[in-house]
Amino acid sequence: MTRLLITGGAGFIGSNFIKYLFKNNNDISIINVDKLTYAGNLKNLEEIKNNDNYTFIKEDICNKTSMKYIINFYKPNYIINFAAESHVDRSIESSEEFIKTNVLGIQALLECSLNSKINRFIQISTDEVYGSNETGFFNEKSVLKPNNPYAASKASADLLVQSFHNTYGLPTIITRSSNNYGPHQHNEKLIPKVITNCLYRRKIPIYGDGTNIRDWIYVMDNCDAIYKVLNKGASGEVYNISSNNEKRNIDIVRIIIKKTKEILQTRGLDINGVSEDLIEFVTNRKGHDKRYGIDSSKLKDTLGWNPIIQFESGIEKTIEWYIDKELK
Ligand SMILES: NC(=O)c1ccc[n+]([C@@H]2O[C@H](COP(=O)([O-])OP(=O)(O)OC[C@H]3O[C@@H](n4cnc5c(N)ncnc54)[C@H](O)[C@@H]3O)[C@@H](O)[C@H]2O)c1
Repeated sequence: MTRLLITGGAGFIGSNFIKYLFKNNNDISIINVDKLTYAGNLKNLEEIKNNDNYTFIKEDICNKTSMKYIINFYKPNYIINFAAESHVDRSIESSEEFIKTNVLGIQALLECSLNSKINRFIQISTDEVYGSNETGFFNEKSVLKPNNPYAASKASADLLVQSFHNTYGLPTIITRSSNNYGPHQHNEKLIPKVITNCLYRRKIPIYGDGTNIRDWIYVMDNCDAIYKVLNKGASGEVYNISSNNEKRNIDIVRIIIKKTKEILQTRGLDINGVSEDLIEFVTNRKGHDKRYGIDSSKLKDTLGWNPIIQFESGIEKTIEWYIDKELK
């Protein structure tokens, strides 16, 4: 049986990935280590919590003694690190927790992994490490030029991961995905915030003039990519993950308002006040990156990955999920 140690598995992508793994495998056991910060929620894993092959441990990845014990005790074949402070706005307010978890935490985890017999150590990173590009696409060899404290902490982690590969031969891989959306994302992030603000008729804040561009990938497509990387990715490599679905923030907000209204109407629910009047332009985020554009042809060409979920169906599933959660 293959054992996977997943850190940060109670968060958005981690919890979706754990469910993805159990759906696609009968012969795995998962140890999920999560500190349960404000962003971690065990309700995300309600349906698998009693699975005999699932173990949850509440712990901080920065705690070397515990992490070493866990790794020695469970002897995982793979370690996949999703644990992070992940919200850019919070990192602009204060970067301390970001440095602790995203930099010192990964350093602790890497050190604890050194004498283990893991096949792969996967670090889940982000397209934000490359910084902003108004045109063109960054590939895995592009220079790291992060612009906000969150992105800088993630870039620092990437460099540490690569240094452990180069120095000690640790079999690491880094994935850098674009913005994810789907069920279980914390309400503070753009897409859940727009949906829930529609549901409660609250103002929808948009930074600046709304022309900043993000590239959106459905979370299960990212999980599928991470799974391919886990099974077939080459040690020491980096893989970009994107589904080439760039949208201006203002456009995504308009799409969500329209779609939410349609779904509420189909369900016979009140649609009064669900309109673009909810939009409120607010002072731009400090140092707001204009656009992130990445090229994921390496992942497609070498590992045969392709995104499956079209944005129209992904956003519909996501809105349905938030309506069920909020208005049940
Ligand atoms: N969400 C995105 O769009 C996106 C895009 C690219 C990359 N990423 C990366 O993917 C990873 C997961 O992102 P997410 O959106 O699921 O984040 P999230 O904030 O939803 O979840 C993070 C999880 O990590 C846990 N955690 C935080 N600090 C910890 C610590 N010190 N020890 C143990 N657990 C800790 C939290 O409790 C939470 O469960 C992050 O590394 C993030 O940088 C996210």
